[in-house]
Amino acid sequence: MSETLHQVRLRVNGLPHEIRVPARRLLSDALRHDLGLTGTHVGCEHGVCGACTILLDGEPVRACLMPAVAAQAYEITTVEGLAEPDGALSPVQQAFAECHGLQCGFCTPGFLTTITAGLRRDPCPTHERARDMIAGNLCRCTGYQNIVRAVERAATIGSERAAEIGASS
Ligand code: FES
Ligand code: FES
Repeated sequence: MSETLHQVRLRVNGLPHEIRVPARRLLSDALRHDLGLTGTHVGCEHGVCGACTILLDGEPVRACLMPAVAAQAYEITTVEGLAEPDGALSPVQQAFAECHGLQCGFCTPGFLTTITAGLRRDPCPTHERARDMIAGNLCRCTGYQNIVRAVERAATIGSERAAEIGASS
């Protein structure tokens, strides 16, 4: 018996999308397979590793734990939507590049989204708070040290860019 399909409207990275999917389609699968946004990675599919973290109205959420139909009311941001409007790397992306915050890169989209949200809440974290910010994400390669450095560097880049905007306005 074929499964009932539902019309689902998703707003992702500022653009509207309509897909027809079963009620059980996970948001992570909808993003990757229905919308082709493969930057969101899927590791554990149990809410543990954080690789699938996306932002819903700016808050980090595990896309592997949420049905796509439940995400219709939210503005979704994936790693593809983190860059600045002019295409420049966001402060977090720039900091990961500068600090070598990745090796294989599998975990990286989840870290980038998580830290983006974390620095909005806490723009100048202490070293301890920078460590806490990434406590819910797993990385098998880096040993985390460079990722913590990237959090701190991203905070600096963010405040420098804010100062530049303030000076030019
Ligand atoms: S794939 Fe979602 S938390 Fe691991
Ligand atoms: S860079 Fe490989 S899992 Fe994090």
